[in-house]
Amino acid sequence: ASSRILNLAVIPGDGIGQEVVAEGLKVLSAVLPKDVKLETKEFDFGARRYHATGETLTDADLDALKAHDAILLGAIGDPSVPSGVLERGFLLKLRFAFDHHVNLRPSKLLPGVATPLAGQPEIDFVVVREGTEGPYTGNGGTIRKGTEHEVATEVSVNTAFGVERVVRDAFARAQARPRKKLALIHKNNVLTFAGHLWTNVFNKVAEEYPEVSTEYMHVDAATIYLVTQPERFDVIVTDNLFGDIITDLAAAVSGGIGVAASGNINPSGAFPSMFEPVHGSAPDIAGQGKADPTATVLSVALLLRHLGHEAEATRIEDAVSADLGERGDLPARSTSEIGDALAARVAG
Ligand code: NAI
Ligand code: MG
Repeated sequence: ASSRILNLAVIPGDGIGQEVVAEGLKVLSAVLPKDVKLETKEFDFGARRYHATGETLTDADLDALKAHDAILLGAIGDPSVPSGVLERGFLLKLRFAFDHHVNLRPSKLLPGVATPLAGQPEIDFVVVREGTEGPYTGNGGTIRKGTEHEVATEVSVNTAFGVERVVRDAFARAQARPRKKLALIHKNNVLTFAGHLWTNVFNKVAEEYPEVSTEYMHVDAATIYLVTQPERFDVIVTDNLFGDIITDLAAAVSGGIGVAASGNINPSGAFPSMFEPVHGSAPDIAGQGKADPTATVLSVALLLRHLGHEAEATRIEDAVSADLGERGDLPARSTSEIGDALAARVAG
């Protein structure tokens, strides 16, 4: 076999981002076949760069990132930076610039993992969250700021193009899964303009997928079902804001933030997709070796699957399952000890 190159941009970021990304790379190196050469370039985005230069993400940065096959991100954010600066100036800017319109967040309750839900429900679903529209586009403004007459708008932007491409992605994912179920989550009884666009597009695309069974539910009802009947879900498609909220709930019921992985995907491949744990930089435990690197390792599996390395992705997921299954019997391990154990499993 001719040798291939995996050209990876690495953004450890802030706080525990640094610690968990090191373990993600450790497992990635261990799992890659010999004929794939891993080339990484590290970027210093985050709070330190912002304090040093005032920059969050420049056009030159975007050009440099563009040249990679994929991006692995730890977390960006620190209490020393005003709220919104890094979220808008880095995370959202990158998602929009690289058109990461599919935000993929799988939720699977793995054996041996505790859930706050009673019993041990079977949880195995994936949320396809729209990533570039909705209320997150920065379409809004404020007047009379700081007065008793302050006005603020935050417009939800929904385009037929943007909705259709993410709905199509969700149907294709549902079709490829054994249960072939897809739920649209919105609030079309109250948010009627956006809600009807979503519902109409969803119903139209559904005609092309006769094998996929569909349902619609309001987002408030969905929060009930995610807790009372999580086994009911297979694939969920929803808008940017609803997706943000329900995926945190999904992470909470299916093993917690330490195991929740995500991908910010550009399915066309026009720009590199970015993979990251759902959690943030956890300043409360940063630098202490207490962070669980599992969410990052599972994000590496999503990255590999996206790039066509299905066998390696599955090896990582199996290693995580096996490791989690034995955790209850082990004394607490440090970040790097968990990384070492996972790397040993995927290599062996
Ligand atoms: P967080 O996810 O960083 O932490 C929430 C809680 O979960 C903390 O108690 C933390 O110790 C714990 N936790 C998180 N990850 C963990 C891990 N791998 N292992 C063990 N425990 C873990 O959320 P928080 O505190 O709201 O945000 C902290 C900073 O991270 C903020 O600046 C925020 O803006 C940023 N953030 C960045 C994200 C990103 O880069 N995509 C996503 C979410 C938050
Ligand atoms: Mg969130």
